[in-house]
Amino acid sequence: MPVNLQNDRPLAWDSAALDADTKAMLDNLQPNILRAHVREHLSVLFVRFNDVADGKRYLRQIATTHMKSARKHLEEVRAFNAHGTKGTPYVGIGISKAGYRDLGHTVEQVRKFGDKVFRDGMKNRIAEVDDPAVTEWERVYQREIHAVILIGDAVPESVEALREQIVGDLPESARLLGEETGQGMRNPAGDGIEHFGYVDGRSQPLFLADEVEKEPKRHWDPAFPLENILVADPFSPNPSRHFGSYFVFRKLEQNVRAFKEIEQDLADSLDLDGSDRDRAGALLIGRFKDGTPVTSKGAAAGGPVSNDFTFDGDEGAKCPFSGHIRKTNPRSFGREVLMARRGQTYGTRSDQPWDDAAPSTRPAGEVGLLFMAFNSSLLSQFEFTQQSWVNNEGFQVEGTGHDPVIGQGKRVVKVTFPKVWGKPEQSAPHAQVAQTITMKGGEYFFMPSLAYLRGL
Ligand code: HEM
Repeated sequence: MPVNLQNDRPLAWDSAALDADTKAMLDNLQPNILRAHVREHLSVLFVRFNDVADGKRYLRQIATTHMKSARKHLEEVRAFNAHGTKGTPYVGIGISKAGYRDLGHTVEQVRKFGDKVFRDGMKNRIAEVDDPAVTEWERVYQREIHAVILIGDAVPESVEALREQIVGDLPESARLLGEETGQGMRNPAGDGIEHFGYVDGRSQPLFLADEVEKEPKRHWDPAFPLENILVADPFSPNPSRHFGSYFVFRKLEQNVRAFKEIEQDLADSLDLDGSDRDRAGALLIGRFKDGTPVTSKGAAAGGPVSNDFTFDGDEGAKCPFSGHIRKTNPRSFGREVLMARRGQTYGTRSDQPWDDAAPSTRPAGEVGLLFMAFNSSLLSQFEFTQQSWVNNEGFQVEGTGHDPVIGQGKRVVKVTFPKVWGKPEQSAPHAQVAQTITMKGGEYFFMPSLAYLRGL
């Protein structure tokens, strides 16, 4: 039976009843797509090949010596949960359209990729998403990147050791164009956070039965069909069994100092006092720092971070339509747009991102998010989100404004915020808050099946 990408029932990956095609899919799929792999420490390498035979040999060698399958990863997670057995590091490979060309695939063949955004490459799609000109990107991203190699684990030592081996094995003809280092950050409750101090990575489309089972599902259904992230790998030996995923990588620098000033200015202008001042930032993100959705509660709640909510009935009196999580997932529609986010923070700092220290003590640059996400269509998922939702001032309701966190492009309309949580009265129209995130470069990749990589 062919792999059913449309099935709404989450995948019971360890069921004895699993059909042969789905089993083969799991044995040939890279990890970190269906389910996030631990990558508290992460090394991201950007490579250029320059020689077809060398490039192929290099990727094949990484695939056969260092890469595990999605199934192996899921078995490791199960063993860890049952007995605390430590898993092995994650190694992932993505290839850009230029990379496929450099591995010997003709222009004609590369057209087999249905996704125009992938075939164009990120440098040719800046107009669509209002990205900065390529000349303003960091140098490595201005160059022609052929492959990205991700190495992740819970501890730095194994990542560093693997990085050394993989860089050391680069053929003479190839170049390491540049690299990034990601490091997870956690708040005192142990939840992963981003540099503005907010819990991140909580809301995800889930594809596996064991993950879905753990979630309450009274309001929001976290189960998604595989078609949200998987596509047949066109160059694999058997595309009906071998799958891959389109991968977007963007380096997003965060001006934390400016964002913290904006939070304070907004709290002042809304006359928020005491603990209610935290609502200013929550109106921008859509969640309080501890992850409590602002549409559900007027103050941080503590405890487990809820994802069981919708915005139904909230006409902007609790969460503005511009709130980052409302822009990027309206919840009552657009489920097919949701990607699997697998980002990681970069840059180190000595202050505590979650506390109330003065904005002047915060970093104004050099820290941010390595935004990464898996898509079955970059055109109708990542790019659509950024172009038609995030950067669209009229999305859902006229006068909504840009996403205050990641919106790009000229901010024209004036916006309002709810003065008291849950009450319809809105503030006087304000200029939109300034942009505090700068895109420093990136690329679109395809994460092919292991069957393809091993056969190179
Ligand atoms: C530095 C840049 C970014 C920061 C600081 C940031 C921050 C956050 C935070 C704090 C959350 C809430 C945690 C959660 O619900 O999991 C979140 C959720 C989310 N973000 Fe971002 N984000 C960034 C970039 C992006 C980009 C570039 C996109 C896509 C264009 C994006 C899409 C989403 C989506 C889809 C969600 C989940 C919404 C939901 O399902 O409720 N984010 N982000």
